[in-house]
Amino acid sequence: MSNISIIGLGQMARVLAARALAGANAVEVIGRDAAKAADVAGALGHGASAGTAGAAPAGDIVILAVPHGSAVPLVSQYGDALAGKVVVDITNPFNPSATGVVTPDGTSVAQEVAQAAPESAHVVKAFNTVFGHVLAQGRPLDVFIAGDDVQAKASTAAFIESIGLRPMDTGDLKMAQWLEGAGVLMMGLGRHGVGNYNFSLGVDIAD
Ligand SMILES: NC(=O)c1ccc[n+]([C@@H]2O[C@H](COP(=O)([O-])OP(=O)(O)OC[C@H]3O[C@@H](n4cnc5c(N)ncnc54)[C@H](OP(=O)(O)O)[C@@H]3O)[C@@H](O)[C@H]2O)c1
Repeated sequence: MSNISIIGLGQMARVLAARALAGANAVEVIGRDAAKAADVAGALGHGASAGTAGAAPAGDIVILAVPHGSAVPLVSQYGDALAGKVVVDITNPFNPSATGVVTPDGTSVAQEVAQAAPESAHVVKAFNTVFGHVLAQGRPLDVFIAGDDVQAKASTAAFIESIGLRPMDTGDLKMAQWLEGAGVLMMGLGRHGVGNYNFSLGVDIAD
């Protein structure tokens, strides 16, 4: 069982929270509107709690389920409250047409988050290559992850397994730029080859 805090109260936050609770994890949701956070926690049930924005999250794993532009400011605002945490960045830094990323070449939101986070926090990129509505369907999926700290990736992988999904380690945090690119790839597939967004990216391993 993992102890999860989720910052954000939108689609991904709610889906991840519901899946986490179904996987017998402890879940705290944190939003900038305390009343809305309490409502979301109440609607989730199963012991979900509402945390306080800006205070130290209760979870060992803190998921940033906010727009990409909010991730770095948020982590800076939390500052030492994130010391020692595994910080999971799920953001996709799409440009307005979702045909590219807005981050400069050679970097990623996850790497920017790592620079803003306390030294003792460990950032893992995960879940950005999974559509929220597909995650909500409950089918098995591959979740690509990237990060520099082996233990932080192991904790994130254990959480992913607890919700019935398969973690797929892609390497160190520099790989996050390609995972963020894979988010763009998914949008292109949705627009073209697949023709809708009811699909997932996965790895087919030959025997
Ligand atoms: N939707 C998907 O299928 C999907 C898939 C993979 C990755 N992602 C990524 O997941 C992230 C969340 O996506 P979403 O679809 O859940 O978005 P969403 O439904 O628009 O929710 C975004 C949430 O972020 C909160 N927020 C924004 N700025 C904040 C701040 N400074 N402090 C605290 N909370 C803040 C919003 O708060 P309020 O409630 O107060 O407005 C809202 O609850 C995005 O980065 C997206 O790229 C999404």
